[in-house]
Amino acid sequence: MRNSFNLDGKVVLITGAASGIGAKCVEVMAQCGAKVMATDIDEQQGLKTVAEFKTQGLDVVFCQHDASSSDDWDKAIAATLAQFNRLDILVNNAGIYIGGTLLENNLEQLRLLNKINIESIFLGMKAAATVMKPGGNGGSIINLSSVAGLIGVSGHSAYGATKGAARLYSKHAAVEFAQLGYGIRVNSVHPGVIDTEMGGQVFQDLVDIGLASSFGEAKNIVIGMTPLGRLGKSEDIASMIAFLSSDAASFITGGEFVVDGGLTAA
Ligand SMILES: NC(=O)c1ccc[n+]([C@@H]2O[C@H](COP(=O)([O-])OP(=O)(O)OC[C@H]3O[C@@H](n4cnc5c(N)ncnc54)[C@H](O)[C@@H]3O)[C@@H](O)[C@H]2O)c1
Repeated sequence: MRNSFNLDGKVVLITGAASGIGAKCVEVMAQCGAKVMATDIDEQQGLKTVAEFKTQGLDVVFCQHDASSSDDWDKAIAATLAQFNRLDILVNNAGIYIGGTLLENNLEQLRLLNKINIESIFLGMKAAATVMKPGGNGGSIINLSSVAGLIGVSGHSAYGATKGAARLYSKHAAVEFAQLGYGIRVNSVHPGVIDTEMGGQVFQDLVDIGLASSFGEAKNIVIGMTPLGRLGKSEDIASMIAFLSSDAASFITGGEFVVDGGLTAA
């Protein structure tokens, strides 16, 4: 799939960019003309992913970055400014999934989910807006939530709580940044089950909590619940993120964008 949203000259920082949805965002947004700072906690995979994109002639740089670390945000923003001299778009994509039923979950799991899925969004929005606001060019921030941030899903309560928080954190920031005149838009994106490593963890969890007898059956259950009859692909999400990043979305802020093949509509 080729993308045609115009991101010419825009500088974007994408977290969790070594694999899955984040890596596809790097590729699609760079193909749309953006200069991309791709960051991830996994340096080895991140360097490998970025090296592949560079062979396509894309303007992409990698920075090792734990998105839940305040010090690492200072490092990632400094690297972005040193490399590209500005920041226009932030994609808060890094996240983890921990399944299990509510009775099985423990406090450490909830705290870890909060740290990686929510503290990273707070730190990212704060770091990016601090740079974007005085730049005077506005900006666009996209936070990865999930359909599990909109509806109840067995085995997803702790993860879904963090994704529900991502949804509302985005709206509060959107309203505040707009009313205070920062010119920075903030939106959340809500994927259904996407065919990545994390998507596989979701299928395994359905087996582990006893709602499917095998990984294959779990996959078929999800496909059966999806009106469009397939799993999502990383490019389905990357296209939405490229659109929300572009000037074509200049009147869109505080919105929640479901990309789930109709799963939550059925
Ligand atoms: N795959 C799905 O079905 C699905 C559905 C809904 C929402 N999402 C959300 O989309 C985002 C991306 O999901 P994915 O499927 O590509 O996941 P993934 O597990 O395939 O990839 C996640 C990436 O994030 C990185 N990462 C993990 N912890 C990090 C940290 N502390 N700092 C920086 N990087 C870190 C990993 O190294 C990895 O490269 C996540 O926020 C996820 O919750 C995914």
